[in-house]
Amino acid sequence: MKKIMAANWKMYKTQQEAKDTAKKLLELIDGKVKEDREVLICPPFTSLSVVADVINRYQYMKLGAQNFYPAIEGAYTGEISPKMLIDVGCEYALVGHSERRHILNESPEFLAQKVEFGLEMGLKIIYCIGEKLDQRKAGKVEQVLTDQLEKGLAKVSKEKDIVSRLAIAYEPVWAIGTGEVAGEKEIYEAHTLVREKLIEFIGGQAKDIPILYGGSVKPDNVKSIINIDNVDGVLVGGASLDANSFSQIVLA
Ligand code: PGA
Repeated sequence: MKKIMAANWKMYKTQQEAKDTAKKLLELIDGKVKEDREVLICPPFTSLSVVADVINRYQYMKLGAQNFYPAIEGAYTGEISPKMLIDVGCEYALVGHSERRHILNESPEFLAQKVEFGLEMGLKIIYCIGEKLDQRKAGKVEQVLTDQLEKGLAKVSKEKDIVSRLAIAYEPVWAIGTGEVAGEKEIYEAHTLVREKLIEFIGGQAKDIPILYGGSVKPDNVKSIINIDNVDGVLVGGASLDANSFSQIVLA
């Protein structure tokens, strides 16, 4: 399975900044990226097309959106549809990032709708899950992750063509943007659990669903994280904003 080295630029970068960062990144990594890796950039909506223009000649470079609304088109002021994302060159989209769950208050049911619709429309979906610190302290990691997987994937068809476009990102909320990275044992346990639950909910083909880790991934910790069993990539926020630091992560 290819490892996905993903950058989530969140609400950062103007078009010019996004273009410059993507160009600089390519200067640093082109010709050096391992064959079993792909590099995914998820800029804000406003920079999707400029980043697409920079990366579209490079096979291993992929474009993704951070969010979308689950309809083809319609009277949804302020929203963006999967059709529009595909049109601008997106292959991937994130669903359920913790900032959307906890700041934008997106419900499990709404996220399930997005996962289902995005996959049906042909996008590759990275469905994000993760426990908060108080839930970990209360020994509820298994319960929270199981619940998020069960609810989020409830409507997903088990057809091979659909399942082959699904990925999961495990991002403990307490490790996002805090500099606090989960330990190797915690990551191993969570990813093992996610794999087991995916197989339980979806069947044997779920062994090929990539499971990414996210939460304060940096150039100096990525190597040990990427080598843990069932870690099939990383989703990087802060350290992906700078081309230098993200290039070190991609090439690690
Ligand atoms: P971080 O963010 O790398 O800054 O912790 C990760 C994410 O939110 O996807």
